[in-house]
Amino acid sequence: MRTIQIPLQKNPYNIYIGTGLLDRPLQMEGLAAALNGRRTLIVSDETVYALHGEKVGKVLREVGCEVLGVSLFEAGEPSKRISVLEGIWDDMVRAPLDRKSMVVALGGGVVGDMAGFAAATFMRGIDFIQIPTTLLAMVDSSVGGKTGVDHPLGKNLIGAFHQPRAVVIDLKFFETLPEREVLSGFAEVVKAAILGDEELFYILEREGPGLIKDPELLEVVVSRAVSVKAKVVAEDEFEGGKRALLNLGHTLGHAVETVAGYGAYTHGEAVAMGLYFAVALSRAKGLIDELSASRIENLLLKWGYKNAPEELSGAEIIAAMKHDKKSSGGSVKWVLPLGIGDARWGLEVEEALIDAQLEGKDK
Ligand SMILES: NC(=O)c1ccc[n+]([C@@H]2O[C@H](COP(=O)([O-])OP(=O)(O)OC[C@H]3O[C@@H](n4cnc5c(N)ncnc54)[C@H](O)[C@@H]3O)[C@@H](O)[C@H]2O)c1
Ligand SMILES: [Zn+2]
Repeated sequence: MRTIQIPLQKNPYNIYIGTGLLDRPLQMEGLAAALNGRRTLIVSDETVYALHGEKVGKVLREVGCEVLGVSLFEAGEPSKRISVLEGIWDDMVRAPLDRKSMVVALGGGVVGDMAGFAAATFMRGIDFIQIPTTLLAMVDSSVGGKTGVDHPLGKNLIGAFHQPRAVVIDLKFFETLPEREVLSGFAEVVKAAILGDEELFYILEREGPGLIKDPELLEVVVSRAVSVKAKVVAEDEFEGGKRALLNLGHTLGHAVETVAGYGAYTHGEAVAMGLYFAVALSRAKGLIDELSASRIENLLLKWGYKNAPEELSGAEIIAAMKHDKKSSGGSVKWVLPLGIGDARWGLEVEEALIDAQLEGKDK
């Protein structure tokens, strides 16, 4: 087991990473103490809860929690909206939770974002812990405190910063995770490697997707990806600047998700398209050397990621990018790779250059 601390000034917290952690909950130092005696509500989606809910409930009781109930919703991105959140608020009121109670988010990024936002808003903010069950949630969404829901005009437009008390990453959840979801999550691992960990990039390059079957390597890779995120978050908790680095691949990625319709591509598939696009822009602007650019493209290919399909309209993608919350005053700010393990945020890219890269899509 590895423990990574997010050294935030106000509320530092631990991320526990290992295989079978939930079989040995007391090993996670400090966790049982934080949970003991707490009244909790488990928030999950129907798919995850059917697979793992009972076990997690048992573990919570073992460490002294009083589990008051469960709030479930239909799995998938279309559930990440305010009307479904209202159902969670109802369950919190009925449980009943109070200011000292705690929410346990059990699931992928959708559950984490929804449960976190429910915790952020209930009685102006109560504690929650994250038990991520997808790779994407493990290496990205469960860490860093961004919570929220989608709006019909764009992803994640409604939300709040609310840090979890702890994150429990049990790699055993991989056993039931569909392959498409595993690959979706690896796009965020690739992103982390490109923006901040050359050694991680090298491991991904050397091992290829086969490493998923190797528990020890998986623990190394997940820990390194989490560390990249933890470091950036610790330096810029509220995205005043540097945290924007984590949006590498997301400017186009979010636009693709919006244009194609939520759920047509997994988040990671869309992010991978955004990574190809970021490399292309960086190359066109002369910011990245050719060797690094082609290493990134080859890695994406080796891991089976596809570029944005021709049938997506370039004009619609540009319109969606302008709606993205990272755009300010109509100008979209880009994160572009400068090499392996190095990226720059806050870059302006001329619309003509973006048009040129998306060219052909409308024809
Ligand atoms: N808050 C953040 O910082 C942040 C960062 C990145 C992404 N996100 C958000 O995360 C979401 C995507 O997360 P996701 O990819 O985890 O999607 P998800 O939560 O929809 O999970 C994907 C699917 O896998 C199923 N599933 C989850 N764990 C499983 C398991 N162990 N076994 C079998 N099935 C399982 C779920 O039921 C669901 O159908 C997006 O909404 C995105 O905006 C948030
Ligand atoms: Zn992401």
